[in-house]
Amino acid sequence: MLRSRHRRPNKQLPYHMFDRARFGLEAQDARTLERIYHKGQERSWDGQAVLRALVERHGQPRVAPALRPALARLFAVIMWGELAAWKVSAALAEELEPFPAKLAATSQAHDEARHFFVMHDYLELLGAMPDRLDRPIERLLSAVMNADHLAKKLIGMQLMVEPVALSVFHVVRALDVEPVLTGLMPYYQRDEARHVALGLKYLPAMIRQMSTRERVALMRFQFRLLTLELWGSVGLMRDYKALGIDLRVAVEVARAKQRKALELLIAEMGIRSTLPIELLDRYSSAMTEALLPADDVTLRERLRGFARTAAWGKQPIDEALADEITTPAA
Ligand SMILES: [Fe+2]
Ligand SMILES: [Fe+2]
Repeated sequence: MLRSRHRRPNKQLPYHMFDRARFGLEAQDARTLERIYHKGQERSWDGQAVLRALVERHGQPRVAPALRPALARLFAVIMWGELAAWKVSAALAEELEPFPAKLAATSQAHDEARHFFVMHDYLELLGAMPDRLDRPIERLLSAVMNADHLAKKLIGMQLMVEPVALSVFHVVRALDVEPVLTGLMPYYQRDEARHVALGLKYLPAMIRQMSTRERVALMRFQFRLLTLELWGSVGLMRDYKALGIDLRVAVEVARAKQRKALELLIAEMGIRSTLPIELLDRYSSAMTEALLPADDVTLRERLRGFARTAAWGKQPIDEALADEITTPAA
């Protein structure tokens, strides 16, 4: 019965939506989820006005023709990723039953729609409208959109894809490729950090109600997403290089944010063991050594790096890279 509640959209009126105990939601977490909606409303920004003001201040966005294809390919990931986030959050808004979680997801869908159209309008102004995505990234996004369980959609989008998007915003902002884009990034970052909070506050209750089989499937799903993310990064290597971004730095930023999000999740669940996170982190770090080597590294050194990281893990992650990933106060 539990399984079907999280797997299939329930088209009946959920009269029990206020019954926190039924969903295993603590009073404090319910309040925080509700606040995500109200904060979203308070801090909502006018996408058209913000873009217009930035263009007035800095002029029509322009980048050197040589950089345009790379920027278009990188931001294709962001634009289509925003659409995927919009679709997933709209599905969550419909399918999540507890009232506070439904509110938070609805507010997220509103934000993601804005992120999508602003990025679309910006890329159009730049003359860099993106085309199709590379296969691994397309598969990553559709794996999350078509996940057969709400927990997979939540963990996939809020805690695995959002932190990667935040890391792209982080490096692009720091690099200052184009002033209008740099000016847009803080608006995106501010909203995305709130979206991570939906995952942190509702997933623990959901996972606690799942069977062991479902939990194992969730873990396998995370490994699959990590693999697709890494192959996706391989496809973007050339573009990162063209833009002057060190891909290994970008991957490290994403790793720090993703790890922090997952650490906060298990802390929320009251789990002391960091083993599941250690396994995921070791896996992605070892794969990074193999797939995304530093420049001038021989195949032999690459394999050695892979084996060493798989056996001993990789340290340290700079905690400051994941500053905006925090548990929202109740
Ligand atoms: Fe977004
Ligand atoms: Fe988001």
